[in-house]
Amino acid sequence: MNTFEAICSRKSVRNYTGEGVSSEELDKILKAADAAPIEMGQYESMHLTVITNKELLDEIDGAGAKMFGKPNIHPLYGAPVFILVSTKSQAETIGNVAYSNAAIVVQNMALQATELGIGACHIWGVVAAINSSPDIISKLNLPEGFIPCCGIILGKTDYEYKLRYIPSERIARNAIE
Ligand SMILES: Cc1cc2nc3c(=O)[nH]c(=O)nc-3n(C[C@H](O)[C@H](O)[C@H](O)COP(=O)(O)O)c2cc1C
Repeated sequence: MNTFEAICSRKSVRNYTGEGVSSEELDKILKAADAAPIEMGQYESMHLTVITNKELLDEIDGAGAKMFGKPNIHPLYGAPVFILVSTKSQAETIGNVAYSNAAIVVQNMALQATELGIGACHIWGVVAAINSSPDIISKLNLPEGFIPCCGIILGKTDYEYKLRYIPSERIARNAIE
């Protein structure tokens, strides 16, 4: 799968078998995170937390469901891995650069997961629930000053990636000539 094929095959996978990813696969996905461009090369402004602890995953899932007011939903979709991307507080960064950095890190991981045939989905929804739960925050062992920003779930899936139809100009554009 070349880069363009990975980009056009990637999709948000929300069905997981429950089986975890191998350490080799996880290493490759984390390498893709490390390969992401970060503003001014400030890699020290980013932090990744790889969560595979079932109890904590369930707690985050439950907190998300509660926040959405839908106790029966599972915003982590039963995925066995959740990689949370945290950034230094906005006060220490310029404008929204922390969000851009975090999004790029997640997208790099999503594309690598696609190439490996591992299910992946960007996760933003539960992060607000995490940030409003001191109990969950304390279990993340984050370095001082880091705030969870977004993340990605990963896991084995029955879904097989294939090239998708991508509508032209789905994102509106204009040109200045
Ligand atoms: C920043 C961001 C946050 C997202 N957060 C969630 C989320 O919390 N839960 C979820 O199921 N999907 C989430 N998604 C996935 C989007 O819903 C999905 O990318 C979009 O609907 C397009 O579908 P596709 O990824 O299958 O192409 C998120 C995507 C992005 C880029």
